[in-house]
Amino acid sequence: MAEGAAPPSLKDLTIDNITENVHAINSQTPNLRLKFILERTVVHLHDLARETRLTTDEWMTAILFLTQVGQICSDVRQEFILLSDVLGLSLLVDSIDHPKPKGSTEGTVLGPFHTHEAQHESLGGTISHDPEGEKLLVLCTVKDVDGNPIPGAMIDVWETDSKGFYDVQYADRNGPDGRAVLTSDDKGDFWFKAIVPVPYPIPHDGPVGKLLMHLKRHPYRPSHMHFMFKKDGFDPLITALYLRNDPYESTDAVFGVKNSLLVDIQRVQDPEMANTYGVELGSALMTYDFVLVTDKAAADLRREKAEEAMRKIGFKYRFIDDLPVPDVD
Ligand code: BEZ
Ligand code: FE
Repeated sequence: MAEGAAPPSLKDLTIDNITENVHAINSQTPNLRLKFILERTVVHLHDLARETRLTTDEWMTAILFLTQVGQICSDVRQEFILLSDVLGLSLLVDSIDHPKPKGSTEGTVLGPFHTHEAQHESLGGTISHDPEGEKLLVLCTVKDVDGNPIPGAMIDVWETDSKGFYDVQYADRNGPDGRAVLTSDDKGDFWFKAIVPVPYPIPHDGPVGKLLMHLKRHPYRPSHMHFMFKKDGFDPLITALYLRNDPYESTDAVFGVKNSLLVDIQRVQDPEMANTYGVELGSALMTYDFVLVTDKAAADLRREKAEEAMRKIGFKYRFIDDLPVPDVD
């Protein structure tokens, strides 16, 4: 509907013409991106109802489910992220918004357990103080796609304790643990001491857990450690390293595993290395070389992929603020 035009008459709507009329009344907004997203949301929701012959009872069940998802949310519990995760939507959105050129490190799900309260830790510091965990030395590099080191990258790292719980899942915790923020050195290196990650179930005592049960799905994530990289001029990278051969490697409840992110736990075999990093000979070792993409390379690839997607769907489009909107006169 053109701006300033009279709104449509919304009477006597039918299964066949309600979608275009809802779209017409929503089209008064000057925000073209909002208009586009809402139009496609309504189209897909209406098609869902038409295609499945959705009953009133079924829709009410869905509404009650979403109500429960909202009601269980708190400062430390984000059930909507969990729902998005188990439906594969989180991974999908991250892949679209942060496309990765060949040779760069792939992203994966953020999950609901990243916090902003992690302490800054010096290189070589210990991020997990769980005495039950198996000690792990983590040695990493962060570079650009041409192999140049990236000094001064801020790296958030977080993992569960040996029981599979994040610090924020303990009501009586004293402060952050199993997490830290580190900064890469001049050579793009960073290293720290942690514990060997373990598999754990995503919170499944709420509505999302019940849904998984109905779907005969388990709630487990394979053993992993989370990493988030921030550096001016580079696209932020949210990723994780997964332990190869974990029992849940191929059935992650939130679809986060990628082959390029699988690592083997090695052993510190070189006495000099043990000495340099202050660990015992034979202790567990995890290494990885991360590769970041510049903002410009990410933006170019995002646009290229968006153009490809619009052409495939058959939409006439243009870009506003680097995001596609329909191209209508
Ligand atoms: C996590 O890895 O922390 C996580 C991801 C998605 C849902 C729950 C937890
Ligand atoms: Fe996790």
